[in-house]
Formats: sequence, structure tokens, C-alpha cells
Amino acid sequence: MCGIIGYTGEKEPKETLLQALKRLEYRGYDSAGIATLEGGDFRVYRCEGRLEGLEAKLKDEHLQSTIGIGHTRWATHGAPIERNAHPHRVGSVVLVHNGIVENYAHHKAKLEAAGRKIQSDTDSEIVAHLIDQKMAEGVAFVKAVQLVLPTLEGSYAFVIMSTTEPNTIVAARNGSPLLIGIGEKEMYCASDVQAILSWTNKVVYLEDKQMAVCTPSRYEILDAAGVPVKSEVKQIKWTADELGKVGYAHFMLKEIHEQPRALTNTIEGNINHSDEIIAIKDLGLFRKNLKAINRVSIVACGTSLHAGLLGKYYIEQFSRLPVEVDYASEFRYRNPILERDNLCIFISQSGETLDTLAAMREAKSRGVPCLAICNVRDSTLAREADATIYTNAGPEIGVASTKAFTAQTAVLYMLAVEMGHIHASLFKTQYQELTREIVRTPFLMEKVLGLEESIKKAAAEYQDFRCFFYVGRGIYYPVALEGALKLKEITYLHAEGYPAGELKHGPIALISEDVVTFVLAPQASSNPPNNPTTSRVYYDKLMANLEEVKARNGKIIAVGTENDSRLAERADVFWALPSAGWAINPMLLSIPVQLFAYHVALNLGTDVDKPRNLAKSVTVE
Ligand code: M6R
Repeated sequence: MCGIIGYTGEKEPKETLLQALKRLEYRGYDSAGIATLEGGDFRVYRCEGRLEGLEAKLKDEHLQSTIGIGHTRWATHGAPIERNAHPHRVGSVVLVHNGIVENYAHHKAKLEAAGRKIQSDTDSEIVAHLIDQKMAEGVAFVKAVQLVLPTLEGSYAFVIMSTTEPNTIVAARNGSPLLIGIGEKEMYCASDVQAILSWTNKVVYLEDKQMAVCTPSRYEILDAAGVPVKSEVKQIKWTADELGKVGYAHFMLKEIHEQPRALTNTIEGNINHSDEIIAIKDLGLFRKNLKAINRVSIVACGTSLHAGLLGKYYIEQFSRLPVEVDYASEFRYRNPILERDNLCIFISQSGETLDTLAAMREAKSRGVPCLAICNVRDSTLAREADATIYTNAGPEIGVASTKAFTAQTAVLYMLAVEMGHIHASLFKTQYQELTREIVRTPFLMEKVLGLEESIKKAAAEYQDFRCFFYVGRGIYYPVALEGALKLKEITYLHAEGYPAGELKHGPIALISEDVVTFVLAPQASSNPPNNPTTSRVYYDKLMANLEEVKARNGKIIAVGTENDSRLAERADVFWALPSAGWAINPMLLSIPVQLFAYHVALNLGTDVDKPRNLAKSVTVE
């Protein structure tokens, strides 16, 4: 939530700051601002609404500076209006903030009692006052920041400038992501690497409670006591080109279409083709923990949680270990029962979701082995976990997660197969077949993308319906949840996902001719090991549920398998997937539900990549 950027170097920073903010806008987009420093004074420009407003405001401004900071906001404290937009300037200090200062009210009362006038409703401005107050007492800029930070409760990433040190940017982190980018005679501070990849791929990630002092030629990382600490410079492999739309109208559409490649990149390197066996390279020495475990907890939020639900089916069926799946925001506070022979898996595209991070810290404090599944290298989750399996999906920029979901699902599938192998609950022929199936999944996904024209048509036909149910059974049920989430987050239409058998326990009361039910009913070319009739039973039961909807005149969009004339005849719209095993079908099913949501949103004219009220990376609780 909120993207922050800082620059100190030799170039005039307006374009740099704006370009970086464009890359960060996915983190929040209700207001934006920049500040520069020239001739001993700040120039601050802020604007309510999207970044375009700020760009327009700055169009004819000629800046003469070589230092600046910027912010794109997702409001927590105070309405998204210009007065609350960042940067916040107070006396000799200007700052941008991502996070929440939980004890701001306490500080605010003291500042007001000392005669300070607070202009905004934000927690962030209070921090600018606290630093300025220290400086007014004669404390130097860096020291003043260092003294104020320990008085703050909550989470923060700050980038700060002062008129007293016109080449220096101070950055500080506790709980919200922040990195330093090292350029040629220039330094950057940013919420994430995408913001600065056009100029440098050399970065240092700040740890919690660390500060960085940056000038154009050097940076120094300090610990909480102000003592310089060594830091590792990482070389980022993503390129700036991967961050563009390459001809697609939206990032979401590009990312949907990238799924076959994302899956290939995620799978490759983890398959021993000659033995037809999965061996996940990122597991490394952590693998020894898998042998001893007797129970698994999967913890995540949103779409990543839905991947986790699929993981439950995979791990339980392949390795016969019990799995529970928790919302990260619930897990942390329910005093979960955790033993040292459990395994906790935390799933996150960004690796910065605060709920998930906090849940992992709780599990780590209990001595439980913690494995992360993450898309962003060296993100906080990845760095703090005992081991991380990366989904090599490439940068995901659309707020609605798509390729990260199927890549997470593929990782969970591979992990479950490997666990099944380690726990000797799969025969050799079974894990070899499962290995072959995941290897051919990207090709099947290519085929599914070919359904787009027909999906577009259906989107036009159904865009004016106001209520959608998504139903599936067994392993298709998490995809129903994901389909409903996709539709509601980018179209703002009401959508709910259910296990199909639950419809009759209440939701069926809503079914009528103006309600659409998505029935996810593929047939499966293979069954869960030791459960040879499951897929057939699920399919037959789903058909019965479909009849219940039809009997009440509900509209039906069905996703099934090619040559399924029974389903095709009963549905108002039918999309056929290529034949695949029960464990592969969820990855194929994901594509039509994503494309449907995308095309409905496009027709309704919503902002597909930046839907209202949302942000890509949720770094507040
Ligand atoms: O980065 P994460 O995977 O931890 O994010 C978790 C959720 O915030 C995220 O999946 C969210 O639900 C997406 N917008 C859904 O499309």
C-alpha cells in the first residue's frame, strides 16, 4: 500500500520520479505527489486522484533540482484528497511514507500542545513534525531521524529530505518494503525494484529497523543504534522490458496470456526428465524437513489463499498428510496449534503482504519450519522464510492476480508430488505420470487461451447481469472461489464462489433468470491416487446441481471437457477444455474465469489494472 521513491544524483528528477511512480502505482492510486529541493527550498506538487493529474500539473514546470522524492497513495488515515497526499513538508523536512504509525494520535496531541499546526489527517505528517521538532532543537538531520524512529509504533518505510543537507536522502524501514538502488553517481530508494529497473539492477534491501543515508556517490546502511552495517548488493534478473504491456491493452490481459510461459519457467529446472521425477531445486537442504513432518498448515491471503486450497488437495492426495488452510489475517491471532514436526507454507505473489508476513513470524517464533512460495526474489517473505520456492512467473503488475495463481498452483503440485515420493505414498508409476502431466500443462494452457473469442462473446451477452455464482466440487471448488474473486474485484459485480453441493443449503434462494451460475465441471483423464471414482462422482453430482439451477431458470455458463455433449446441451454457454487429469484441470479452468472477468470489465469500462479501492501489495493489516 503506497509506493515511495527517492532520487539523488545528477539529473533533473521530474521524469525519473514520475516514471518510477507509474511503476509503483499498482501499490495505491488515490493521490500522488513529488517534492524536489532547489535553491535551499522544497517544491512540492500533490494531486488528488490518479498519477495523470500530477503529470498534468507538472507538465510546464521547469525544475532545476537533482534530488527528489515521490509517493503514490492508498489512503489509510485521512480521505484521499490533496491535503492528505504525500509528500508532507514541515519546516526543514519533507517526507513520504508507506505504512501505518499506530501511535500517531499520542504524538499528535503532544505536538499540538507544543503549538504545532497539523495540516493533514494523516499519521505521516506527524513524523515530519517530530523530525523537524528535533532539528529545531539543533539536532542534525540524520540524527533527528534516528531519534524519532524508535518512538514510532506500527510499520513504516520513509524517504526523507531536508533543506539542511541538499544532496542527501534518508530512508528508513520497519515492516514496509524498501530498497536502495545503486546507479552511476546516483542513488534511488524505492518500495520495489520495478520502480528503478530502467536505471539500475543493483539493489540493497533494507532490513527492519535499518536506515540508509544516500548521496549521489555513496550510501551507508545504519542499524537502529546508528552503527554502520554491511549489506549485500543483489543483482536483479528481471529486465525493464518485462514491465511493459508489449502491445496488450492491459497488464492483466498480458499476464493471462503469459501463463503458459510462466508455468514453463516455474516448472523447468525442477524436473529430472530422464527419471521422470520432480526434484524442486529451491528446496535444497530444507528438503530434510519434509521427511519428518506429520501435518501441514498453508497460510495466505486472497488469490494466494485459493492456490493454497488447491495445495491442500494435492498434498493430502499425494502424500496423505493432513493439511489445513488459513487466512493469514486469522491464523496469527487464533493461537494456532503448531508442533515442531509440522510444516508451515506461506504463499504470496509479492512477498510483502503484511498479514502473511506476520503469520510467518508467529510460526517461526514457535520453531516450526517455514517454507515460502513467492514470486518476488528477495522480498521480505522470501528472505525471512527458512526456504523459498520461487514461482518464476515474471513481474505481475495487474492488481488482479492471474499468472501468479497458476504458477503457485504448479509449485504446490510439484511440492505435493515430491512429498508423496518422500513419504512413499505414491508408486513410481504414479509420480512419473504426475510428472509427465505437469510438464505438458503449458501446452494445454495454450489451447485454452484459444477460447478467448467465445469468452468475449459471452462477456458481451452477460455483462448486464448483476449476480454471479461460481460453483465446483472437490479440487474445482477453489477455482470457483478464484473465479468469483476475479469478477468482483475488477467489474464490481456481485459474485460468490461455492462448493456446488452447498447451493441447496441457502444460496439457491437467489437463483432466478437474472442470475448466472458458472459451473466448473471438467471431466478428468485421471483420478487422485487410491481414489479411482472421485472424478466421476464429482461430475455426476455437479450435473445434478446444474439441473437444480436450471429448474429455477438460472443461466448457466459451463466449463467442461471437450466432447462433453451432456454438459454442452444443458448449459447456455459451454467452453471445452482439452482433456487432462483431475490435478491439472484447476490450472486450465483458471484461464476462462480470468478471461471472462477481464472482458466483462473491459465492456463495463472499469479500470482493469487498477480497480477501485484495491492495491497490488497490501502492506497494512
Ligand atoms: O502478494 P500476495 O499474493 O500476498 O497478495 C495476496 C492478495 O492480496 C492478492 O492475492 C489479492 O487477493 C489479489 N488482488 C487478487 O487478485
